[in-house]
Amino acid sequence: MQSFERPRILTGHRTTGPRHIGHLAGTLTNWTALQDSYECFFLLADLHVLTTDFEHTGGIRSNTLEVLPDWLAAGIDPQRSTIILQSAVPEHAQLSLLLSMLVTEARLHRVPTYKEQINNLHIQPSLGLLTYPVLQAADILLYKAQAVPVGEDQLPHIELTREIARRYNQLYGQTFAEPDALLSNTPRLPGLDNRTMHSSYGNTILLRDTPEETQRKIMSMYTDPARIHASDPGHIENNPLFTYLDLYYPHPNEQAEMKTRYRAGTIGDVELKQILAASLNAYLKPIREKRAELAPQTSYLRDILLQGSQRARHIARETLEEVLDAMGLSLGLSMRSEQSTQTIPSGAFC
Ligand code: TRP
Repeated sequence: MQSFERPRILTGHRTTGPRHIGHLAGTLTNWTALQDSYECFFLLADLHVLTTDFEHTGGIRSNTLEVLPDWLAAGIDPQRSTIILQSAVPEHAQLSLLLSMLVTEARLHRVPTYKEQINNLHIQPSLGLLTYPVLQAADILLYKAQAVPVGEDQLPHIELTREIARRYNQLYGQTFAEPDALLSNTPRLPGLDNRTMHSSYGNTILLRDTPEETQRKIMSMYTDPARIHASDPGHIENNPLFTYLDLYYPHPNEQAEMKTRYRAGTIGDVELKQILAASLNAYLKPIREKRAELAPQTSYLRDILLQGSQRARHIARETLEEVLDAMGLSLGLSMRSEQSTQTIPSGAFC
């Protein structure tokens, strides 16, 4: 099938650091599979990192070079999909500014992720944090993506993107399809301490962790707090050990037997954790090998970003020029780099 016949999707991660198994199970495995049926754009959203980390920017570049090998190792294929570095394509910021005119400040204050961020991080919110979802809308609309594969937490941002697209179309003419959220059906993987899995909580297993680190983390993970001895009857519900085993120990009959024995108090946490560690390490082995091979090849990684971002920029410029024109700006001047020096005689605008 030709690529232009496939519906287009755009999705991405903020480049906050190396990816963990929650990212893998929640998004990356799904994205990898989507490459068969969609034209995929995957965004490394480094501008979005600044919305919270603008005082500590030292790690943003190195984090980008941690996320990318994780993506590739998980199966994101730069030959088939376009990988974009957000800050390398200035049209993201430009379109964000233009779209920001169509959203009220009050509407942005009602976005639930904004309120959560302020409460969780105890920060003085910047204007950039408030307009986070407008930049995300620009990310999506710049490529006229029809669908956006995201987790449930991102639904308010997709809803806002749809509102912006609708408002734009009403004011300036039909330009953008209202993109649909594409929810994957994988349940959220809890953290090792049974809170939400999040790098800042230190409750993750990273793709780049060694098998030994993985084993150590699993041996100390949260299970049933009411169970003191292996002979105590245990609870399966709300016990991350079994959420993990369901995912990484794919033997339904033995799984059922383990659960029966756990409830009856005839199998210990330690034994189950050892089984889990071995299965998870086996599952992650090919991903880790690929990652270890790619991570040191920084010039290859940069090259992927350069090529992807260049390809993306081509499309982004077209959309931006269309938008500038529709919004009554730019006098219809095309400032594409390949044309600008040839078609505009020097001194023409003095
Ligand atoms: N906000 C997304 C997240 O935190 C990351 C993101 C930025 C994104 N731009 C996007 C996701 C565009 C989908 C589409 O996960």
